[in-house]
Amino acid sequence: MAERRNLLETLDKKKIPYHVAIIMDGNGRWAQKRGLPRIEGHKQGAKSVDSVTTTARKIGIKYLTLYAFSKDNWKRPKDEILALFDLLRHYLSKKKDKMKKNQIKFNVVGDIEDLPQDIVGKINEVKAYTSDCNGMVLTLALSYSGKSEIVKACKKILKMYKDGKITEEEIDNNLFSDMIGLPDVDLLIRTSGEMRVSDFLLWNIAYAEVYITKKLWPDFRGKDLIKAMKEFQKRERRFGLTQEQIMTMKQDMKENTEKTIDCP
Ligand code: IPE
Ligand code: IPE
Ligand code: MG
Repeated sequence: MAERRNLLETLDKKKIPYHVAIIMDGNGRWAQKRGLPRIEGHKQGAKSVDSVTTTARKIGIKYLTLYAFSKDNWKRPKDEILALFDLLRHYLSKKKDKMKKNQIKFNVVGDIEDLPQDIVGKINEVKAYTSDCNGMVLTLALSYSGKSEIVKACKKILKMYKDGKITEEEIDNNLFSDMIGLPDVDLLIRTSGEMRVSDFLLWNIAYAEVYITKKLWPDFRGKDLIKAMKEFQKRERRFGLTQEQIMTMKQDMKENTEKTIDCP
């Protein structure tokens, strides 16, 4: 706790990423290393979700998106899928009051209708319960595929076009972003050391800073998020510009701030 607080104070408040997305990987290996069934890894992983969410809120992150279940994860053994859904049921019932207390608005992305009916009901209940919270949006990606989200966005745009609501010229990156729904990702974290994106938020990660740690998800807690944050704050994001252009922009911004302060 004290370590986390000290670490928090070392962060630059002006360079907090707006949207952090996490591929929570390595639960199975965590359990396997201990000779436990895979589900034990998922259970410990749920504790990491809690710790990371609480810390993200304290840091001042506005959007936290967690990859909880991919469309391809449906190919896993049935027992594991059922156990994951049980954990999700438990999580939704147990955490809704904490979310509300911490002003966390609950959200989901993915093909939610694929999930068991009672879970869909619980999701809608927690969404409604936290709908007026405005501290941070916590999004769980469930039955999610980044490719499918892009295809869905295309279909929505096609319909708008066919209905005469937009012209061809109005089809641009901004419209696509609106249809996809979540803002651009600033920091993408993946645990367990795998160097891949596994069909996560493909549209939104165009200019995300990527942070990969060998830590397995059940071992990744709030203090590890702060470490990732510190690494993010050291990075220079260029968005296609040269280093010189970035330096000039920073200098101009600094001068403008000084001028504003000088004004009576
Ligand atoms: C991530 O951990 C959780 C889900 C995909 C649901 P894994 O279950 O993929 O763990 P590993 O990669 O097998 O260790
Ligand atoms: C990605 O992890 C999905 C989630 C974290 C929910 P996977 O373990 O399914 O990804 P791959 O198979 O290693 O690419
Ligand atoms: Mg995995």
